[in-house]
Amino acid sequence: APGAPGIVKPLPAGLLTVRGTNAETNWAALRGTGYHTPVDRFFVRNHTATPLLDPARWRLTVWGSGLRGRAVEFSYADLRALPAVTSSVCLECAGNGRSYFTTQQGDPVSGTPWTMGAVGAARWRGARLSDVLRLAGLSPRAVDVMPRGLDAAFVTEGTDHGRVRRPMPVEKALGDVLLAYEMNGRPLVPDHGSPVRLVVPSWAGIASVKWVGDIEVSDRPLFSPWNTVFYRLFGPAHPAGGSAPVTRQPVRSAFELAPGAVFAAGRGHRLTGRSWSGQGGIRRVEVSTDGGGAWRPARLHDAPRAGGWVRWSTPWHPRGTGPAHLLARATDTAGNTQPARSVPNEQGYFFDAVVRHAVEVV
Ligand code: MTE
Repeated sequence: APGAPGIVKPLPAGLLTVRGTNAETNWAALRGTGYHTPVDRFFVRNHTATPLLDPARWRLTVWGSGLRGRAVEFSYADLRALPAVTSSVCLECAGNGRSYFTTQQGDPVSGTPWTMGAVGAARWRGARLSDVLRLAGLSPRAVDVMPRGLDAAFVTEGTDHGRVRRPMPVEKALGDVLLAYEMNGRPLVPDHGSPVRLVVPSWAGIASVKWVGDIEVSDRPLFSPWNTVFYRLFGPAHPAGGSAPVTRQPVRSAFELAPGAVFAAGRGHRLTGRSWSGQGGIRRVEVSTDGGGAWRPARLHDAPRAGGWVRWSTPWHPRGTGPAHLLARATDTAGNTQPARSVPNEQGYFFDAVVRHAVEVV
């Protein structure tokens, strides 16, 4: 519920059953927390349901025409024995902010109606995917790498799409991608991919396959529903047949406030929030407290860093009473500034426009 601490649908303690979950972070509950989103407030996005897997029995199989030899299996202990990398990065759903296409712009879109809570930053620790691919005998002929989850098959509108899986080019797989087994210093919990998930920095969350069970390495391009019918941009403003599969996330911002938050007039307040981008670090955030008339720079509390977010704050002394709109507009180091209006697409990905955050001054 708005105003309640933690994620909107809190995870029950001692999770014992398989279940499906989509839960977004309550931004008001991030105020005063550190850089990393606490695990119990981190959004959950499942196409299917959370499986409960035993790390001791779990295996990762790497196979396919892009290897020099046969399939190779890794245990949890094998992965833990490889050089470990720790990386603080944001994970965000491509559909984050989707509901604003409808509520703010009047564009019809389909999909989970997130506000801005399908994003979080965590300290991920794991093995490099590149190390695992090389140990498995990566061939110079490899072009695509497709991790697949151990969740149930995804069935929608009568179509069985199989297990969640999405290819990426081998160049990306050999870059900054992790096979993560820890989140914020603790082993992954079931909802976030236990025992092992991918973390693909800066890319749409669908690339960060949870509960990974096998990885196909291929000497020709691979396809799955998640890079063909989903996670492309469709609609009049996009190429016929859809855009290329989405990769890097756009620039976005959120206030650490509940919708409809109430402020006392004639008093000093401190507005806080965060901004992030998959195209680079954040170098400027401007805030408007009069619905977009005047803008002033917010104070940034973190240095711009690719893959991460910045926390920011700005003082506010509201005078008159009544409804007000707070707006935050970020610019990243690649020069992208949040626009006033986001180009629509049928499935509502990549809403990057400035959000009009309605509050009340009393
Ligand atoms: N991996 C599997 N196996 N199944 C899924 O449904 N959802 C993806 C991705 N990985 C998904 C998955 C999507 S769309 C997102 S945004 C992220 O996981 C969400 O990760 P989180 O639930 O840990 O926040």
